[in-house]
Amino acid sequence: METYQQLAITRFGEPAVLAMQTQTLPALTDAQMLADEQVLADDQVLVKVAYAGVNPIDAKTRAGLGWAAAQNKDNLPWVPGYDIAGEVVACGQAVRRWSVGDRVSGFIGFPLQGGGYSEYVVVPAEQLSSVPASTPLRQAAALPLAGQTAWQALEKAAVNAGDQVLVLAGAGGVGHLAIQLAVARGAKVFASCSAGNADFVRQLGATALDYRQGPLDTQLKDADVLIDLMGGDVGIAALSCVKAGGRVVTVPTITAEQVCEQVRQCGLQAEGMLVTPSVTQNDTMMAMLAAGTLRLHVDAVYPLADGAAAHQAIESGHTRGKIVLAVGSDA
Ligand SMILES: NC(=O)c1ccc[n+]([C@@H]2O[C@H](COP(=O)([O-])OP(=O)(O)OC[C@H]3O[C@@H](n4cnc5c(N)ncnc54)[C@H](OP(=O)(O)O)[C@@H]3O)[C@@H](O)[C@H]2O)c1
Repeated sequence: METYQQLAITRFGEPAVLAMQTQTLPALTDAQMLADEQVLADDQVLVKVAYAGVNPIDAKTRAGLGWAAAQNKDNLPWVPGYDIAGEVVACGQAVRRWSVGDRVSGFIGFPLQGGGYSEYVVVPAEQLSSVPASTPLRQAAALPLAGQTAWQALEKAAVNAGDQVLVLAGAGGVGHLAIQLAVARGAKVFASCSAGNADFVRQLGATALDYRQGPLDTQLKDADVLIDLMGGDVGIAALSCVKAGGRVVTVPTITAEQVCEQVRQCGLQAEGMLVTPSVTQNDTMMAMLAAGTLRLHVDAVYPLADGAAAHQAIESGHTRGKIVLAVGSDA
């Protein structure tokens, strides 16, 4: 037997409920033995995780909030983490796409299983994307969930060339990617952020709107599209920036109904959303990263054992770009 480490939610509560736990595998790289012991099915691969992305949903679930927490309340300790990047170390017998040593990333186990905060994880082969040699694995781990959320929010809002698009929380994980993807569609993008992030969002192609300088509708009144990454009262207050007939996609699920109701009362089109994992979208954005047409900002890297500090940071609501956990790599 060989052992490896994971970071698990031991019970719902403060970040301190995260604790390291040890797991065993019959043999970390022997595909036949892993299959014999029913660890690895024919269509699965074992990935040695280098980095795991940290998302707000991880902290919300740890706090006992939302659907993943409700579904897993009798299943603790539970290992969170939907974003991984690392190296294939064993392949099931039917896997043709991957070989041992391939660099991969993926949006895995969403929303019930998670599992990314772990030195090793078993993943269905079709959930993975190839990571180009030029792309650092920490960026590959930070991209999937946030990138696909940004992509799908813009799709839902049918953002087209010439649209004026307001992105709330433009400096965050989803927001900084949404700005760039909207600019790539030919939109004129505005992004709300604090003064300290104004240069950051400008460099990504947006006009910065400082939300601490008074109401946003004194700075913008005729947006065609609102991509609301804040929800609640902040999302509702921003509706007055949208012109008649405009489109609103509100992304935080917990306040989606509340915001959508207000949107309809304003005579605008409203939609909430839940991101759906898409390997095709991940492949495309991975290629954009490699080509330099998409930038991903990793603000901080925490060792896996310091996951509680990473959760405190994401819960501050003021991280810039993404934060990741170094799992099998140096922080
Ligand atoms: N429905 C889904 O499928 C789905 C998928 C992904 C994410 N989400 C949700 O979408 C939201 C955004 O996710 P994320 O990963 O981008 O979050 P995040 O990275 O934690 O967002 C942090 C950013 O929020 C900004 N911010 C804080 N208060 C603000 C305000 N009043 N106005 C404007 N910006 C403000 C901060 O910028 P400053 O420091 O400049 O204030 C910071 O850069 C979260 O609620 C998340 O749970 C939902």
